[in-house]
Amino acid sequence: MKTVILIGAQGKMGQAALSGLKQHRVITASRSGDSCDFQVDITDKDSIKQLFKNVGDFDAVVNTVGHCEYAPFQTMTDDQWHTTIQSKLIGQINVVKVGIDYIKDSGSFTLISGILNVKPIPQAIADATTSGAIDTFVKCVANELPRGIRINVVNPTVLEEAWDIYGEMMPGFQPVPGQLVGKAFERSVDGFITGQVLFVDA
Ligand SMILES: NC(=O)c1ccc[n+]([C@@H]2O[C@H](COP(=O)([O-])OP(=O)(O)OC[C@H]3O[C@@H](n4cnc5c(N)ncnc54)[C@H](OP(=O)(O)O)[C@@H]3O)[C@@H](O)[C@H]2O)c1
Repeated sequence: MKTVILIGAQGKMGQAALSGLKQHRVITASRSGDSCDFQVDITDKDSIKQLFKNVGDFDAVVNTVGHCEYAPFQTMTDDQWHTTIQSKLIGQINVVKVGIDYIKDSGSFTLISGILNVKPIPQAIADATTSGAIDTFVKCVANELPRGIRINVVNPTVLEEAWDIYGEMMPGFQPVPGQLVGKAFERSVDGFITGQVLFVDA
């Protein structure tokens, strides 16, 4: 059994990840902290540091947080770009940057991206761009992590559990059950792979 910190645990992707982490001791966190063990804001490095200090020893971090703004490219504001980049890109990078100082030897990080960087749809340019950047970050930074630390990213299509929110934006997409996406998180945490983008698509 490993100690796994799951950030964004109460979200739809967090619940999907949780389904693949059943054999572990999972410590949950989110921005509000509602129904979680800890509060954390991934856009704030001090907050991330405080989370890792408070938890103590841990083997893995699974981050399922990455807020994205949706609008057509021509009307997307600087603020919307900034908000998306600070959360889905810089926030996730900082979870790794800060976490390296606290995670155990041979620990692992698992981040979140999303299928829209390879299957674009209207209004999702910020999500697609930051998802692509996170996939690249993971593939490349895996070569620089010390002490046998691994890193992967799960790149899923839309969840069945989120189809009521995103379905209208995504004609022709086939949603997948959260449990299937949970398997990708499980493969990342329990396997020996590193630097991989784990696509889950139908
Ligand atoms: N849902 C899908 O079908 C799907 C498919 C592919 C990829 N994704 C990606 O998965 C990610 C999560 O999506 P979701 O559907 O799970 O969203 P969600 O249901 O809205 O959940 C978001 C979670 O993130 C937490 N959160 C938001 N901002 C935070 C911050 N700054 N610091 C810490 N926690 C924060 C929220 O915590 P509080 O509630 O406490 O604020 C909540 O637990 C997104 O990047 C999305 O693009 C989603």
